[in-house]
Amino acid sequence: MAESMKGLQRSHRCTEVTNLTGEKVTVMGWVQKSRNKGSIIFVDLRDRSGLLQIIFEEGDVGSENYAKAEKLRSEFVIAVTGTVELRSGGVNENMATGEIELRAESLRILSEADTPPFPIEENSKTKEELRLKYRYLDLRRPDLQENLIMRSKVATLTRQFLSEEGFLEIETPMLTKSTPEGARDYLVPSRVHPGNFYALPQSPQIFKQLLMCSGYDRYFQIVKCFRDEDLRADRQPEFTQIDMELSFVDVDDVIAVNERLLAKMFKETIGVEVSLPIPRMTYKEAMDRFGSDKPDIRFGMELNCVSEYVKDCGFSVFTDAIKNGGSVRGINAEGQGEMPRKKIDALVQFAKDFGAKGLAYLSINADGTYKSSFAKFMTEEELKILTEQMGAKPGDLMFFAADEDDVVFDVLGNLRLELARGLELLKKDEYKFLWVTEFPLLEYSKEEGRYTAKHHPFTMPMEEDLELLNTDPGKVRAKAYDIVLNGTEIGGGSVRIYQNQVQEKMFEVLGFTKEEAYDRFGFLLNAFKYGVPPHAGLAYGLDRLIMLMAKEDSIRDVIAFPKVKDASCLMTEAPNVVELKQLNELGIGITENK
Ligand code: AMO
Ligand code: AMP
Repeated sequence: MAESMKGLQRSHRCTEVTNLTGEKVTVMGWVQKSRNKGSIIFVDLRDRSGLLQIIFEEGDVGSENYAKAEKLRSEFVIAVTGTVELRSGGVNENMATGEIELRAESLRILSEADTPPFPIEENSKTKEELRLKYRYLDLRRPDLQENLIMRSKVATLTRQFLSEEGFLEIETPMLTKSTPEGARDYLVPSRVHPGNFYALPQSPQIFKQLLMCSGYDRYFQIVKCFRDEDLRADRQPEFTQIDMELSFVDVDDVIAVNERLLAKMFKETIGVEVSLPIPRMTYKEAMDRFGSDKPDIRFGMELNCVSEYVKDCGFSVFTDAIKNGGSVRGINAEGQGEMPRKKIDALVQFAKDFGAKGLAYLSINADGTYKSSFAKFMTEEELKILTEQMGAKPGDLMFFAADEDDVVFDVLGNLRLELARGLELLKKDEYKFLWVTEFPLLEYSKEEGRYTAKHHPFTMPMEEDLELLNTDPGKVRAKAYDIVLNGTEIGGGSVRIYQNQVQEKMFEVLGFTKEEAYDRFGFLLNAFKYGVPPHAGLAYGLDRLIMLMAKEDSIRDVIAFPKVKDASCLMTEAPNVVELKQLNELGIGITENK
């Protein structure tokens, strides 16, 4: 029978009693484990602060309580009053409360518990599916509790910092119209307007721009966003942004505020000093040097363009790629010349998975001879020039990709990361930030046969490139920036278009007629007619940020109730069928999906 809380009050959390030797305290929590040693019972009690050892002896607690203590099993919820003592049985170095224990004087069993389907322990080896099905139990584990506590701290610090900087926290609607971040929308049917749908916001983008039009000057929100896209380790269908927008600013102002925010966050939650200013790199440089618009700069192994040096060589794979407008680039894995053939073959396959037609390799033996998949097609002199250009020395292993630039970048950018993983160069306690700037404004979609916005259609072109919008739109650079941490895009933003003519031009380039543009975004275009301040903003993916701070590999580990790969929730079993009555009210019929 569960006992009540009547007349009882918790005085401390488990680990808060460390320095209270000799004092009487009352703690409450879950039984981690209980050991009956005959005339003495040890219980490890757990709450969100950690563990505390409790010692029950009949002489202290009386026979009735002692009998209760004998019944305790894992996950029972209990309240214990007792006196804090130095440990009788020696210090436990592995426990925050390892020097003390609580000598129980009374015990209440507040709730009994069935045996849980898996042990509640740090670094659980239980399969994730089972843990997610019983997420409420999984969330009792100290590692997850630490992550969620950190998440709460970051949210609090963010609110504190941004309000001190003059930002106002303003909510924007969840039931709204399709927003333009480029993913698929989650739709919500309207009962009152049969056949009509709300879209859940992919971001508050348009609303925050409208708030600038309304004079709120500096806005922020910690806000849920919804995107129906393929899930990965760093993507969820609903995720949280720290979203902000500022008026009367340009790129440098947004960057400055955010560098201060990041420095405060990292210092005050995980004690990491972010050295400011954070380095900046243009998109072009990032692609050329790292084959990625979110380079991991914790290690080198940069890309090298060797087209110029191989354009007339005897290896047709290289010369053909260049003739077709592509390039030949390589990376040098220093000291990896002895890599076994099997491993190299696996890397070739890895490259093919990223669209490579092949991957050429070349290593220099100690005696100056080569081990290579293509050396036989080149002269000694050509090979010498190539290795010189790659900065390679005996014992090094080089990989080359020859193809269209896009493919070469993707292949080598990913190969670089794969090699770094294999060589354990990616240290999770090293935090390397980078701003990537001057993104292309547009990218050409072969599928749609038109340009699409790389960031979103409200992003301002760079002043120098405005003319190109008419002549060569693909070349226009944007006033857009991403903040990258250890190779993950943790945030992105841009300066916005605030002139109606430029915005209309942008929609034209994107292939919208004026009517279509007004139909979708008329409320914004109209707002621009009534006085609009220059404005800019940025949004972080909070989940990704916490994932990196907590040194986790998946954002599921920093979200209380995450979804799995197929966007379902294993605990609630959402999404699910609904009652026919509900569908009828909405005027919705279900047909079989072909
Ligand atoms: P963007 O689309 O780049 O910009 O999103 C901002 C940040 O949100 C995170 N993010 C995600 N995190 C988890 N799961 C997802 N599915 C997911 N999608 C995005 C990323 C990303 O950097 N309105 C603009 C911001 C602006 O211009 O101010 C926007 O939403 O970390
Ligand atoms: P082949 O003559 O086709 O056997 O190719 C010789 C070497 O070139 C092999 O190691 C291939 O993997 C490699 N190779 C083929 N296509 C490419 C490419 N597009 N880029 C780089 N290497 C390639």
